[in-house]
Amino acid sequence: MCGIVGYIGTQEASGILLEGLRKLEYRGYDSAGIATILEGEIHCVRAKGKLHNLEEKLAGETNPARTGIAHTRWATHGKPEEYNAHPHMDMQQRIAVIQNGIIENYRELREELKARGCEFRSETDTEVVPHLIAEELSKAEKSAEFPLLEAVRSVVNKLQGAFAIAVICADYPDEIIVARQQAPVVLGFGQGEFYCASDTPALIPYTRAVLNLENGELARMTPIGVEIYSFEGQRLKKKPRTLDVNPVMVEKQGFKHYMLKEIYEQPGVVRACLEAYFDTEWSAAKASSPTKIGLSDAVLDDLQQVQIIACGTSWHAGLVGKYLLEQLAGIPTSVHYASEYRYSASPLTKNTLTIGVTQSGETADTLAALAMEQERRSTLSSGFEARLLGITNRPESSLGHLVPNIIETHAGIEIGVAATKTFVAQVMAFYSLAIDLTYRRQARSSEALEQLLDGLRQLPAQIELILESQERYIEELAHDFAETQDFIFLGRGINFPIALEGALKLKEISYIHAEGYPAGEMKHGPIALLDAKVPVVTIAMPGTVFEKVLSNAQEARARDARLIGVTPMDEQEAADTFDTLIPVPHVDEILSPILTVIPLQLLAYHIAARRGLDVDQPRNLAKSVTVE
Ligand code: F6R
Repeated sequence: MCGIVGYIGTQEASGILLEGLRKLEYRGYDSAGIATILEGEIHCVRAKGKLHNLEEKLAGETNPARTGIAHTRWATHGKPEEYNAHPHMDMQQRIAVIQNGIIENYRELREELKARGCEFRSETDTEVVPHLIAEELSKAEKSAEFPLLEAVRSVVNKLQGAFAIAVICADYPDEIIVARQQAPVVLGFGQGEFYCASDTPALIPYTRAVLNLENGELARMTPIGVEIYSFEGQRLKKKPRTLDVNPVMVEKQGFKHYMLKEIYEQPGVVRACLEAYFDTEWSAAKASSPTKIGLSDAVLDDLQQVQIIACGTSWHAGLVGKYLLEQLAGIPTSVHYASEYRYSASPLTKNTLTIGVTQSGETADTLAALAMEQERRSTLSSGFEARLLGITNRPESSLGHLVPNIIETHAGIEIGVAATKTFVAQVMAFYSLAIDLTYRRQARSSEALEQLLDGLRQLPAQIELILESQERYIEELAHDFAETQDFIFLGRGINFPIALEGALKLKEISYIHAEGYPAGEMKHGPIALLDAKVPVVTIAMPGTVFEKVLSNAQEARARDARLIGVTPMDEQEAADTFDTLIPVPHVDEILSPILTVIPLQLLAYHIAARRGLDVDQPRNLAKSVTVE
């Protein structure tokens, strides 16, 4: 949510900063801005809307500045207008600040500053920061070794909330000060040049030597190095690590959109997860566990309950996880929206595993709910202690620092704002966890587990088959929905979360109203919405609820709705029920979500692409929601 980037070194800063913003635009695209230090002055240019508007403003400008900061915004406080775009400056225009996050006590700080004669030019929470720094600098002890660092340090200690800021000052042209409190910042180390950014894709073209700033830390970046300090002023010794990323991963590789590329990466993602989570040689004859997720007995033994906390698509993965944990391992499981849980937590129960699911590892609500769970259990014992597990695609994220146990999802960096491959990888993580627990509790026979593993191993080829055989067809099908305004998605059992996910994908990228329902709930209200203009996409996979789902689809048909069925090839009864079929391979019902979600992703993608919409950066959304 908002991307920040900074550069100090020997090259022209503006090109590097704009390239960095391009890589971070997935974090927000309501406005963009850049500030550099040029001939002893701050040169600040901002533009409403996407980055290309800023680029147009900067076109033809030569700017040799070698120090600068830049920002791409997802609006929280104040409309997405140019006057609210970052960087924000102090009254003398000597200090420029960019921020990602929310400064919760900005109102009182703003009132205090106004009372002292300060004039504000924006509606943002961020603008208090440059004004406060200006005040601190004016009273800074001239003897202070690093006055700008001291001024920023003093200000961050007054701020409440979750934020990451970067600051430049025309009077200290060889410094960028960066601070982190609950919002991500990664520092990049080149040779005689240094970078900071909200996320690693902005750094990958320039360096692999990176260091994550931790909560309560400041960095003083200069052309000769980076020093790290605590908010208390203590110098800290830290070493960069080497980033293990293939730069090709962050390119489109010939696909029109990242989202389509990421949909096509899913067979590889499932293969990577299988390799990481399971003993590939395992058979029922072996006496060891079929999984290798590396979680200790202290985390997994004697569980009486699991609670899953997540948002959005990750919450849908959690719902699939609940089904697996209950139906395979027999463990009562609840799934909570993080934003709800943090203010209305369930009563404490013994021997409870709390799982936070977040692909970015930075979702503010999920992190806060997990921190709260840890806190409220920290003084308890005899079974009530916190057992926390994170499922994330970014183990180096804030989540990775917060919880002691992680299952990494092996999806690679996801750039499209709509989650696709990370969802599939999260579901794979739940298969591994559920199978591990099933084995530990001997809830299923070894033969049943072997069959499940065999089924899992088939999934990558089956996804490939769907992509090869159905994408063109779904692209054509998308034409039919040029005028459609509402969609309904139905599923039951383990495919109910997939109906929710299909609806979410469609609404977030095509802006078509879509709802997902458990098919049996239709007749309790939503059926009133149906007529010939409302397509109903139904997931009908043979298993416990196949016949029931087909009957529910018939109820929709009787109301003239157009029925689209995601169902196995050659299921005659299904073929007779649906007007349009999107066939998927035959698969054990319990494994089917990994297949049934693929056509729904493609359908959402092609409907949105056909409408000429910005699929990778849908309006009002951001990839990483670091505000509450
Ligand atoms: C939907 C989507 C969002 C995220 C949600 C949680 O396509 O991407 O609903 O799933 O914002 O994000 P993470 O998983 O990063 O916590």
